[in-house]
Amino acid sequence: MKIVIIGSTGQLGTDLMKTLQHGHEVIGLIHKDIEVTDYNSCLILKKHHPDVIINTAAFHKTDQCEEEPLRTFTVNTIGSGNVGKISKEMEATNIFISTDYVFDGSKNEPYTEDDIPTPINTYGISKLAGEYYTRQNPKHYIIRLASLFGVAGASGKAGNFVETMIEKAKKNESLHVVDDMWMSPTYTKDAASIIKKIIELKLPFGTYHATNQGYCTWFQFAEEIFKITDLKPSLTPIKTHQLQSKAKRPKFSALRSTKLPKYGVQMREWKEALHDYLIEKGHIHA
Ligand SMILES: NC(=O)c1ccc[n+]([C@@H]2O[C@H](COP(=O)([O-])OP(=O)(O)OC[C@H]3O[C@@H](n4cnc5c(N)ncnc54)[C@H](OP(=O)(O)O)[C@@H]3O)[C@@H](O)[C@H]2O)c1
Repeated sequence: MKIVIIGSTGQLGTDLMKTLQHGHEVIGLIHKDIEVTDYNSCLILKKHHPDVIINTAAFHKTDQCEEEPLRTFTVNTIGSGNVGKISKEMEATNIFISTDYVFDGSKNEPYTEDDIPTPINTYGISKLAGEYYTRQNPKHYIIRLASLFGVAGASGKAGNFVETMIEKAKKNESLHVVDDMWMSPTYTKDAASIIKKIIELKLPFGTYHATNQGYCTWFQFAEEIFKITDLKPSLTPIKTHQLQSKAKRPKFSALRSTKLPKYGVQMREWKEALHDYLIEKGHIHA
């Protein structure tokens, strides 16, 4: 298949490029090549005649999204609309990467594809609206991911949570991490493999949750990082309200797929994925 990846040097995009190159013709587009907020710029997609488009582009700094709703909606919603429209005209499959933040966090057990999204912050609302725009093309997959860590690191987010923790620990900084917010940490390499399987197995179009299995609080995630790397910083649990952040965040946004296992597709546990990431990133030896 011919696959175009928008945001090909981003955290997820980098792993998608590596993973999909095995068996497919893959074209990576970076921000200089395509501006998803500009319909005319998105017409570059037509030049490549892809079978599949994967749109990873997003404005996802959750607190900044509260201050810049116009920018947030322009990238995450209008951008999705532009890519969705063009993909439909080309009869190409469109894959939109969405988020656990489409849920409000009140369920207290993992959200499945059957749960109704009710986002509580600007980022989540803009991504949910992006999902609706994606559905204009019946040949679509909406893939909801969460709390990503990948070797490339997220642009604009100083890498990812794992790297931030390790960097601060090595500088002997005291760490304060929330222990009342639950999520499913997810390795972008694993997410990329699942996306490859979804495409290759030609699973029914629709929405899929694709996170590593299990869940934890951010504090527990930090504990596991330090256990594996044998770092021993001063690590203190705190409560979310102590952060005084601009955006409300769901207290429990773990995801689970009830659909993928039916097709024999499963992701491994987040702890195992974290271990592999730390090897790949050179923090520990195999
Ligand atoms: N990071 C997470 O924890 C997380 C969790 C759940 C879901 N997600 C979703 O997963 C996707 C990938 O996340 P990620 O961590 O890989 O993000 P990332 O590293 O920031 O990658 C996004 C890529 O998109 C490009 N981009 C941004 N705005 C664009 C625009 N207007 N037009 C064209 N390209 C644009 C960026 O290029 P520049 O950097 O050059 O602008 C970057 O290469 C996003 O859709 C995000 O909403 C992320």
